Amino acid sequence: MKHGLFLFVALLITASSSALADQSIQFERFSIPDAGRIVLALQGSELTGAAADVNARTQGALAAAVKEAKFKGKKDKKLTLYGIAPYDRIDLIGVGDEPVDRNTAEDFGGTTAGVLKSVKGGSVQILWNPGEATDEASAARVAFGFRLGSYKFDRYKEKKDKEQGEPATIRILSDDGSAPVFNNDLDYLAKGVYFARDMPSEPGNVIYPESFVARAKALLDGVDVKISVLDEKDLQRLNMEAHYGVGKGSARPPRLLIVEYMGGGDEAPIVLAGKGITFDTGGISLKQNKGMWAMKGDLGGAAVVIGTIYAAAAREEKVNLVALAALAENMPSDRANRPGDVQRTMSGKTIEILSTDAEGRLVLSDAVHYAQVNYEPSVLIDVATLTGAVGRALGDDYAGVFGRHQALIDELMQVSRTANEGLWQLPLEDHHFEQLKSDYADVKNSDTGDPGASTGAAFIGSFVKEEQVWAHLDIASVDKLDKGRPTMPKGFSGWGVRTLDEYLRR
Ligand code: BES
Ligand code: MN
Ligand code: ZN
Repeated sequence: MKHGLFLFVALLITASSSALADQSIQFERFSIPDAGRIVLALQGSELTGAAADVNARTQGALAAAVKEAKFKGKKDKKLTLYGIAPYDRIDLIGVGDEPVDRNTAEDFGGTTAGVLKSVKGGSVQILWNPGEATDEASAARVAFGFRLGSYKFDRYKEKKDKEQGEPATIRILSDDGSAPVFNNDLDYLAKGVYFARDMPSEPGNVIYPESFVARAKALLDGVDVKISVLDEKDLQRLNMEAHYGVGKGSARPPRLLIVEYMGGGDEAPIVLAGKGITFDTGGISLKQNKGMWAMKGDLGGAAVVIGTIYAAAAREEKVNLVALAALAENMPSDRANRPGDVQRTMSGKTIEILSTDAEGRLVLSDAVHYAQVNYEPSVLIDVATLTGAVGRALGDDYAGVFGRHQALIDELMQVSRTANEGLWQLPLEDHHFEQLKSDYADVKNSDTGDPGASTGAAFIGSFVKEEQVWAHLDIASVDKLDKGRPTMPKGFSGWGVRTLDEYLRR
């Protein structure tokens, strides 16, 4: 027992050390370096601006090498050159021909991180003065993209990258006053995204409802938020049978984590509710084994809402925000939900469970009701890895957005583009609600036909008052990427933090 307790404490301690790469990123005055390792942005195949000045220092050798390599400076393309005197290494990263906007700057930073992954020790200087940058502090966007692009999850590898040498110090040479924008704002946002990647990457034996709460508390330590936690007894006392029921088959009891950040005076808060299934076996409606390991990431929505509130609170955004993480482990056992079971939710509405694998909507039905009665939100947004169907519809380019309030949906789609993510609207119509009519209760948790993403949205929507401004984000299409992007390495993406963060800034 003593030993077990020690192990548990040790796990919590290692768990609280953030996986944020502590690679140092510094901002310095722009100048053309005389030597060392440098990174250049190339707008098309012509060497203009800084690239022209560097080329002059190399006596034209750079231009000759670029020509020989047929490098055209296309967006996110890269070329590494060694030993072009007086430099040890020159990395060229294409930024395309268009004026350099914020997404291009971030992608440039992310691609640079990928290219420099194996560069250890000393420093690398990134020259950043693109002729036509459209964003004010675009060097901060480069740094942000670099952070996001250098994410890795190697906590459980015996031989970590770090042990092969300290990462190089990154020095961004630019005169656009980006240092405070990065240090007091975007670096926090990167940390929020890291949390939203770490939690789903962690295995289910490490992250369960209580340990998720501990990790969220560690993240939020030192920022001005109020944290409360409802345990399994509280959930039962509040008649949150739907949420409690999903977790009751597991030895790890469910939790509702509530984080309040009140930086916006007395305006009604925005409430974000995240699905936090720490592992989804399907329950008695057991999933097949193929790919089941990825269900350790079924807490993606919860991790996104916590990462978002962290970033807003850390930079002291003037907004009132509440994040709810509906946490449970969906396990089969003698105490688990059965198909056909009927439960009473906090709202009083009853649910017939047709599939114990449609569990995300169950925990969220109580969470969105809790949000409405306790906070009267100006806007309610739920975020969930809810259905496999959304990925079949949208691939991994977009998350799905659903709702009854078109203005909110339009705004979310727009900010998702600005934030370098992507949202696409899918239908939510009366007949999706009709499909949920149950013979034995008020609603059933899944349709008998093909399980669709719209039915899932309608289920959650049937616990949201019609006049409540609400949107449902189904992130199951984008939460895990098989192929990386510049600012999203392969694996769990943390998708949604950047979009929600951008939304809060409006
Ligand atoms: N967590 C899954 C959805 C999911 C699938 C997320 C693949 C990420 C990748 C969810 O709980 C689920 O099992 N959904 C079912 C719903 C059905 C039983 C109505 C689905 O999509 O098949
Ligand atoms: Mn499921
Ligand atoms: Zn699930």
